[in-house]
Amino acid sequence: MQRLIIFLFILGFISPCLCARCVKTEEKENTYNVIDYGAHGDGKSDDSKAFVSAWKETCGTKGTSTLIIPENRVFLVKGIALNGPCSATKINIRVQHVNNLSIDGSGGSIDGYGSSWWKCESCGRPTILRFKSCKDLSVSHVSITNSPKAHIRINNCENARISHINIDSPGDSPNTDGIDIYSSKNIFIEDSTIQCGDDCIAISDGSSYINATRIACGPGHGISIGSLGRDGSYETVTEVNVKNCSFSHTTNGARIKTAPGGSGYAKHISFEDIKLTQVENPIIIDQYYGSKHSKVLLTFDEAINLNCCPPGCFNLVLDNIDIVSSKPGKPVSCSCNNAHGKVTSTHPNCSFSYNQIIM
Ligand SMILES: *[C@@H]1O[C@H](CO)[C@@H](O)[C@H](O)[C@H]1NC(C)=O
Ligand SMILES: *[C@@H]1O[C@H](CO)[C@@H](O)[C@H](O)[C@H]1NC(C)=O
Ligand SMILES: *[C@@H]1O[C@H](CO)[C@@H](O)[C@H](O)[C@H]1NC(C)=O
Ligand SMILES: *[C@@H]1O[C@H](CO)[C@@H](O)[C@H](O)[C@H]1NC(C)=O
Repeated sequence: MQRLIIFLFILGFISPCLCARCVKTEEKENTYNVIDYGAHGDGKSDDSKAFVSAWKETCGTKGTSTLIIPENRVFLVKGIALNGPCSATKINIRVQHVNNLSIDGSGGSIDGYGSSWWKCESCGRPTILRFKSCKDLSVSHVSITNSPKAHIRINNCENARISHINIDSPGDSPNTDGIDIYSSKNIFIEDSTIQCGDDCIAISDGSSYINATRIACGPGHGISIGSLGRDGSYETVTEVNVKNCSFSHTTNGARIKTAPGGSGYAKHISFEDIKLTQVENPIIIDQYYGSKHSKVLLTFDEAINLNCCPPGCFNLVLDNIDIVSSKPGKPVSCSCNNAHGKVTSTHPNCSFSYNQIIM
């Protein structure tokens, strides 16, 4: 039996518009609306008790249950704990179309009890925290462990600050991305540690102005742009700055992946002040992602791998890079296909053709 136990302190949970939508499933859903438990939603009354009562029912119901926080109201909720264990096998709390939502975990944690889900690849595994169409979001001081799938997903949001987050799932847990970002703008992720079984941060189509600063990633698959252009689609990512981050025991460091047959672009992407410790593919651009031309690196001596398809990747700048093997004395190399740009002070050195095009 799957269990989802949530233990979360929410302080100053204030929003002009809060709502929850339930997932459509075949099962009949039991819904619990905080209004029915005495919440006023007037922005003045303390609605904490009503939230806790509604949660108790949500948690105590067998099967799938959904906690409803209706829109067009302001709820004041302080220091509540949404505790398990629950009888429900699936609980939905959806945050959608919310402005100025702030979740301060105050050091609390959410455990997704993912291990029972990881074995089941065909199960619709849930993401722990999903934000959709939110403006001015802040999430801080919370630990999220063992998610069945991604830990945090940000979709179609603008202006979000995610800070002092600790994500922790085993390095071999499947598809457990740390933070997934889609179609979002001005997202700042700072001062956090991410240990997981997939990308620490994955930045996908329609995203721009994404900064990740002081992130310790590993184990995990690094910080990735894409994949973009799957199934022939047009997808773009622009203005991504990853700064002062460390990768330790990860499969990748800085990665951009695009699928053959797609179109679009990844531009103005920078990785700066990056520290690598035992990283298998520190710098990798793979324009053949998911195809047989994708380079699955079996020998970890290619520290830099820029596998671009014709006409190529342009305006690349490699500067002040020093990557050595974790095995003392073992040489490392750079492999480039169709890479154009500038290389200075880079070890291992890469042979680029200097060639700029105006895009
Ligand atoms: C969020 O709150 C700030 C300050 O209270 C306000 O200026 C801003 O307009 C709000 N944002 C939205 C999208 O409502
Ligand atoms: C995002 O990163 C870029 C490059 O480091 C920096 O110029 C910009 O000020 C950052 N934005 C914020 C809001 O921190
Ligand atoms: C980088 O981050 C570390 C903490 O993760 C901090 O101690 C250090 O001062 C930062 N370096 C720069 C140049 O900001
Ligand atoms: C590194 O490679 C570039 C491009 O091929 C070349 O211009 C440069 O001289 C090389 N640097 C060193 C130190 O070998």
